[in-house]
Amino acid sequence: MSHLEVNSVNIAHETIDRHVDAGHGSDLAIRFLSKNDTPDSPGEQYTYERLASETSAFARALTTLGVAPGERVFLLAGRVPRLYVAALGTVRARCVVCPLFSAFGPEPIAQRMALGDAAVLVTTSSLYRRKVAAIRDRVPVRHVILLDVDDPAAAPEGTLAWGDLIVDDGSIDPIPTTDPETPAILHFTSGTTGAPKGALHAHAAIAMHRATTQDVFALRRGDVYWCTADPGWVTGTSYGIVGPLSVGATLVVDEAEFDADRWYRILAGQHVDVWYTAPTAIRMLMHAGAAVAAGIDLSRVQRAFSVGEPLSAEAVRWGVEHLGVTFRDTWWQTETGAIMIANPAGEHVEPGSMGRPVCGIEATLLLADSEGELIRDPSGQVIEVTDPEQIGMIALRAGWPSMFREYLHNDARYRRCFADGWYLAGDLARRDANGRFWFVGRADDVIKTAGHLIGPFEVESVLNEHPDVTGSGVYGVPDPVAGELIHARIVLRRGVEPTEALLTDVMAHARRRLGAAVSPREIAVVDRLPITRSGKVMRRVLRARELGLPEGDLSTLEGPEPFTHTTKEVTA
Ligand code: WT7
Repeated sequence: MSHLEVNSVNIAHETIDRHVDAGHGSDLAIRFLSKNDTPDSPGEQYTYERLASETSAFARALTTLGVAPGERVFLLAGRVPRLYVAALGTVRARCVVCPLFSAFGPEPIAQRMALGDAAVLVTTSSLYRRKVAAIRDRVPVRHVILLDVDDPAAAPEGTLAWGDLIVDDGSIDPIPTTDPETPAILHFTSGTTGAPKGALHAHAAIAMHRATTQDVFALRRGDVYWCTADPGWVTGTSYGIVGPLSVGATLVVDEAEFDADRWYRILAGQHVDVWYTAPTAIRMLMHAGAAVAAGIDLSRVQRAFSVGEPLSAEAVRWGVEHLGVTFRDTWWQTETGAIMIANPAGEHVEPGSMGRPVCGIEATLLLADSEGELIRDPSGQVIEVTDPEQIGMIALRAGWPSMFREYLHNDARYRRCFADGWYLAGDLARRDANGRFWFVGRADDVIKTAGHLIGPFEVESVLNEHPDVTGSGVYGVPDPVAGELIHARIVLRRGVEPTEALLTDVMAHARRRLGAAVSPREIAVVDRLPITRSGKVMRRVLRARELGLPEGDLSTLEGPEPFTHTTKEVTA
């Protein structure tokens, strides 16, 4: 039994112990399907009680290791049970959990662990060997726990075996009193300039996760729920772990990567009631063709939701026609922590619209110029857009429970996200006469590829490290499946020939350092990059040139020498 005091809010209590205390400990919390499991397999089953005792054991291990509340525990692993135990065990101990995407290469991993002052890393032996061992001396981490190793003799030097350290004796430890403002979850998100930003969330966020899981998804105790996002991204944590467990649902977690046939069979075979996915996945399903779903009974799927990128009206209609499912769009960000704008269960869907603000959230549009800069009235105040046809920047009245509390080590950047009591989302949208929001685009250069937000600067920095590359510009180009693909234009050191071999080498360098998910799909050599007078690469100009779009006023800012494409390029 947990001994919860008034004014204590701990995510582990809200997602696990609360259900055990209420007599629901034997309810199924998570069914884990491993890569080798069939889609209708019972998988490895975790009851709420088992989650309580295993997360207790994990929290005890942190204490044994001398890891203090507030210290950061980083996770780098595929979707296996112990990743989830570590995530919830970390917040149980009042430490901060930071899940990293396991497809990241060494560079994004090192950068994030350094920025986030990682005290502990939980990973697998293979990921450790391939991605962490070489950067170990550059990261602050004190303990590395290998979750697939039980015998300490099998753990490489400098690592710890999970099985040796974490002993589940079935006991459930009381959760320490936790002030709701205690930091709980750290997510890195990309910006255009500089390093990725660490958005820090507090335990209080659970109030918003639970409210939206109930109100938007209409998810109830005992319902089967599947979120296809990886916990390395905010969706896979907020709604792949926290939200659905907080209402006592049964989660399906699949370790395998996307496969249209497997996905349909999971929906049917696991009796999924509520499904949360992304436009990129829906486009891949559309691509695979409706025939893949033929003969698979999807009638049990009651509700389906989407997030991460624009959900086109076409995708909504396709879902209705071919799957008998209405995809309902939801809009939010790493910074907002939880769903802010949505098409909730039971409400009429206007295909193409993101919906309306959720309960308790005040959203508006603020007048901005074409560069995404806010326009202010003579007294310096921001201006709300009232005309239904007018585009503005999405802004949310600051102060909701799941709002990020800081960007790690970057207070100035955090403060720039707010104006006159509004949080500025950086997205442009329209709002119709019924109060529905319609997405228009990002106001800056960040790239959305396969649902992942990638900062061009991070990619450019790695390209520029190559001994023969002196400059680069990275941008997104539209792609029917991934939403956007990352393309790069590079300038070579004087005298270096743009040979096929060299380009292949630059590409290999990028993939090695960044991982496949973050590295460019196409790299081409140019003689010079368009830059502003202040020396900033004009990524939007590069993009416009590739796509044959007008370059707008930006080109007038360019230097005197002409921009030319050379013919050499490689694609991944
Ligand atoms: C950006 C936030 C929060 C979930 C995953 C992404 C874009 C998000 C939608 C939507 C159009 C969307 C926005 C937003 N985005 N949802 N329904 N329609 N665009 O979190 O990585 O922080 O990305 O994703 O541009 O600002 P994130």
